[in-house]
Parts: sequence; C-alpha cells; structure tokens
Amino acid sequence: MGNVIAVDSISKLVTDARKEIQGARSSAELDQLETKILGKRSLLAMAHRELGELDLEQRKEHGRQLHEARQAIEKIIEDKRADVSKREREQRLIAERVDLSEVITDEVRSTIGRGKLHVVTQTCDTLVDVFVGMGFVVEEGPEAETDWYNFEALNMPPAHPARSMWDTFYLELGEPESVVLRTHTSPVQIRLMEEAARKSSLPIHAVMPGRCYRTETPDARHLAVFHQIEGLVVDEAITFGDLAGTIETFTRAYFGDGIHSRLRPSYFPFTEPSAEFEITCTICRGDGCRTCSGTGWIELGGCGLVDPAVFDAVGIDSEEWSGFAFGFGIDRCAQMHYQIADMRSLTENDLRFMRRF
Ligand code: DAH
Repeated sequence: MGNVIAVDSISKLVTDARKEIQGARSSAELDQLETKILGKRSLLAMAHRELGELDLEQRKEHGRQLHEARQAIEKIIEDKRADVSKREREQRLIAERVDLSEVITDEVRSTIGRGKLHVVTQTCDTLVDVFVGMGFVVEEGPEAETDWYNFEALNMPPAHPARSMWDTFYLELGEPESVVLRTHTSPVQIRLMEEAARKSSLPIHAVMPGRCYRTETPDARHLAVFHQIEGLVVDEAITFGDLAGTIETFTRAYFGDGIHSRLRPSYFPFTEPSAEFEITCTICRGDGCRTCSGTGWIELGGCGLVDPAVFDAVGIDSEEWSGFAFGFGIDRCAQMHYQIADMRSLTENDLRFMRRF
C-alpha cells in the first residue's frame, strides 16, 4: 500500500509546481499547466483519490497536507495569471496603438482613398442645419412603430381608406395592436405632441429626420427604404401663411436663388387643409423639361395645418393651439440637388458614383 506522493515529497511538489508556473509565458500556457498540475489526471488528484487506502490517522494528516498543497499552488497560479494578463494587455495596447500624429501624404492618400459621409447623410445634415438656423430643434423617433403612432393617432382609424396611401411592412399583425416599420416620419409628430401635452411644454418647433420603409418596388424615383424629414410647429394662432413662408424660406436657403416653392391642394388625413409642395425643377430651372413633365415644377412633399382630430388624439386643446406640419423625402431632395438620374444609385455603393459627392 502506498500513496503516489509520499508525505515528505508534498513540499517538493509545491516547489516544482512553483518553478514550472513561474516559467509560463502566456495565459494559454498557464491554462495548460493548471490542468497538468491540478487537473483530474494530475499527481495531486491521484494522490487524493488514493487517500481511502490509508488508515484514518494517516488519511487525515495526508489529506490535510494535500489540501494545503493544492491551495498553495492555486494561489501561485492566480498571482501568475494576474501578472501574465497584465503583461498581455500592455502588449496588446502597444500593438494596437494608433499614431494620431502620423502624417498621411497626398501620395499615400491617393492610393488608400479617404472615407466620407454618404450623400444622403450629407443632405440630411445640411437640411437639418437650414432648419436649425430657422429656430427648429431636432428630434427623432423609433423606426418600428405601433399602429397607433403610424396611423390611428394621425386620424386614420382601423380600415380608414387613407391607410392604403402607404404600402406598409407589418412586423406583427394583430391584437391588440399591429407593429409596422414606419411608412413616414409623421408618427414622431404624435410622440412629440403627446410628450408636450404630458409635460405642458408647448409650443413645439421641431424637425424630425429619419429612415422610413414602404413595400415599394424601387425605381428611378422611389426606394423601399428611404429617408424623410418631418416638420412640426404647434403654437398660438398659426396660419397657412406661416406654413407657406416657412417652406419658401427653406427652399431658398437649401436650393439657392432662382428655386421657389408653391403649394397645391391635396389630401392627408392628419392635416386640414392639406397641400403638396412643389419646387422649381432644378434641371430646367422652371422652363419645363422631361423630368418635370414640362411643368417646370417638381413635387417634394406634403404639408398642411394640423387637423383638430390629431390634437384630440394627443390631448392638446385645439381651441387654444394650432399648428402646421410638413414632410418630404431627403433622398428626393438629394436627387434634385445633385441631379441624380436614378435614385437606386444611392443604395448601390458603386464607388464611381459615391466619389462624386
Ligand atoms: N407623411 C406624409 C407622407 O409620407 C407626408 C406629410 C404630409 C407629412 C403632410 C406631413 C404633412 O407632416 O403635414 O406621405
């Protein structure tokens, strides 16, 4: 009978283990050593399994020593691991260091190219700048919306025929409520007005840019995933003149001299009266061409005075407050501004196209 480790060699076991552990150069190596020295097949584990063969007194004594040895070795490994990971971290930091002072010469730059913002992002930023300059604040809302925000609060109860104006992607159909990918940025209006009503923080002067979705087959003038910017003003005694003036000011500021806006009667469930707004065709500058079907005008978006039914839905007193709203496509704006023949180019990531902007 005997134990794989004699009592007097237990201390040697710890000394040897320490030496071996100290020599480890990486966490991986340390893991291997740990398995070898403390794992199921280690001498230590075997010695532990054989304790049963000893008589009671010996078993107690030997067991205690084996336990102490294991604890000592575990501590050595733990210390070493802290040490090794600290060193590994330092090495990684050095290896991944970015030299921010490095000078990129024009020659190098011309070979690696230089990233920049997508033309739609650039357009969105510029539009937002124009509106911020006019005193609007910028707000955002979620892209997945409930039926309430995308339709119902916008004065379209279930089965309202106007819902078919938007070809909708449904994420969840049904009870108690459907969830859709928003078909326009108008639901953000509802969120802002609900919040303002709750906090009594009217008036509102906000623009809301964002991505929208429609089950549309992309063509030269439409994308299924596109961007809109929404505007909302809720204040006292707002008139249609305020709306028309805001749109004309924006059009001149963004498109420059010679491009104007005009409003044409239209219908949206959430505004009354409603209008479509058009701008001077940027291709022919009003003379009439193929792009504008000879009219000299291009449609950009919709607008109108906030319908009292919408104020009712969000809990704003329409006797006290009035407002106007508008919404138009950012991609469409970029298309007009840069005279992009086919809107699908915006999503194809063809570098020859992207580099133009
Ligand atoms: N949400 C409408 C659309 O996507 C555009 C629009 C029309 C927005 C009138 C408005 C508005 O805020 O008042 O077709």
